[in-house]
Amino acid sequence: MIADEASTCTKCGLATTRTNVVFSRGNPAAKLCFVGEAPGSDEDAQGLPFVGRAGQLLDKMIAAMGLDPAKDVYVCNIIKCRPPGNRKPEPIEIETCIPYLHEQLAAVDPKVIVALGNTAVAALLGTKLGITKVRGQWKLYRGKIPIMPTYHPSYLIRPSAQQVEAKKQVWEDLQAVMKELGLPPKKA
Ligand code: URA
Repeated sequence: MIADEASTCTKCGLATTRTNVVFSRGNPAAKLCFVGEAPGSDEDAQGLPFVGRAGQLLDKMIAAMGLDPAKDVYVCNIIKCRPPGNRKPEPIEIETCIPYLHEQLAAVDPKVIVALGNTAVAALLGTKLGITKVRGQWKLYRGKIPIMPTYHPSYLIRPSAQQVEAKKQVWEDLQAVMKELGLPPKKA
């Protein structure tokens, strides 16, 4: 299985600094998949994506959609190993790692993908347009799976006035996702 193959991966330098390969969490048969950037320190320690502060917010967002984070969604990242000091992944690290993501998305075959933040949007859609330009606009992953670009939850937890507006926008984007999936509307 692709997760087994990734678990012993040494294709890039991050293999020497990681504690765990962080492959996915949630339901591999889910209709909805969230893709983030890269594991942080909590994720590296636990071997699971989005288990730190950003992950707690992501789970709240999923619950607000009326979904169970453990049963109704699949969560993963563009790269599977933590970049030291939480730096941005290097282009070569993304290029080396992304075949794992393409394979896992092919296996899950979700109805909708939510791309969280610039790195996920750029890597999945091959666009150089920043997240503020593309968020809220449906795109297609590999020409067939609808993908909704939105802000990364770690952006939303920074304390600033802008975040209030950004949170509203993310909720709008998630409501569009719910509609696409035929889920009933919810209050934020
Ligand atoms: N940020 C991400 O992009 N992914 C994680 O798994 C955790 C934080």
